[in-house]
Amino acid sequence: MAVDYGSRDPAFVAMSDAVRHQLAALVGPAEGWVAVPVQGSGTFAIEAAVGTLIPRDGKLLVVENGAYGARLAQIATTLGVAVARYAVGEDTQPDPGEVDRLLAADASITHVGVIVCETTTGIRNPVAEIARVVAHHGRSLLLDAMSAFGVFPLSAADLQFDALVASSNKCLEGPPGMGFVVVRREVLAACRGRARSVALDLYAQQQRFEVDGQWRFTPPTHIVAATAEALAVFHEEGGVNGRSARYAENHRVLVDGMRNLGFETLLPDDQMSPIIVTFREPAHAAWSFDAFYDALRDDGFVIYPGKLTTCPSFRVGCIGQVYPDDMRAFLASVERWMSARGLPSGAPAR
Ligand SMILES: Cc1ncc(COP(=O)(O)O)c(C=O)c1O
Repeated sequence: MAVDYGSRDPAFVAMSDAVRHQLAALVGPAEGWVAVPVQGSGTFAIEAAVGTLIPRDGKLLVVENGAYGARLAQIATTLGVAVARYAVGEDTQPDPGEVDRLLAADASITHVGVIVCETTTGIRNPVAEIARVVAHHGRSLLLDAMSAFGVFPLSAADLQFDALVASSNKCLEGPPGMGFVVVRREVLAACRGRARSVALDLYAQQQRFEVDGQWRFTPPTHIVAATAEALAVFHEEGGVNGRSARYAENHRVLVDGMRNLGFETLLPDDQMSPIIVTFREPAHAAWSFDAFYDALRDDGFVIYPGKLTTCPSFRVGCIGQVYPDDMRAFLASVERWMSARGLPSGAPAR
């Protein structure tokens, strides 16, 4: 990131090409798949995907169990796309059988949108089962893989879908500033003139990449350079297998340690992903999220407030350049704060 690349210079174009090809290769072979990066955060890339891939007479079924599903529906509605919603509780996995019924009942649904890991809670959604249902009905599946890409197996060889959206800064461990859409070539090729936005037109951007490798508008050069490095580190760690093994270990150390201190996870073990864990807030009068947050931050650990509408909670991430020993240090910090505060246990209200 310390190198100031010229955005039209061949050295930058070569680096950007390599990043695009490596991102696509994590999904499928180059004949079938392309990765189209988008300046901005992940949401910009979701907006580009919805606006480019869904035709004006299309209809999107959003499978929703948290804030990011709700946002996907909001993006589609704002872009004038007809939306059907299948919403379940934030602590509930959607039922693929219900997706089957909804698709059977509404032939006008052309696309289905699913969040792979709903970061609101960290719940793992049954993407493989939903993908089979969507393929059976001949509809198009779009995945929000923002917090899953690089860790969940999302290879086109195992899963039938048309596009996924992710960003530089979650499981790839790069800095924030670039989203991307990995999409089937034949699907994108049919999208000429469809986008509802000039800047967020994935078709037009891919056309330009194919002509001369250039981004149409000023690229985030430092972010692309850092993502190239982040991808090298990712492959050194063993790619999806290596990274998911480390996150799984981070997750296990965290959850076991917090349970030993009396805390309870929102989700049962078989629904949690190794990305982020939601804990219920303790019931004891000595509990204060703000005091807990500040003390942990002073020890070097930044956590997240809960995003649930239904129950008081907080979240702890397992991703990024953190290792099991960092999780142990985090647990020691939690325990220190509890004894200084006079909080005997992290147990929530019954
Ligand atoms: C599943 C999911 N979708 C979308 C987003 C939005 O990404 P961004 O905040 O980068 O726009 C996030 C961010 O946490 C996410 O976890």
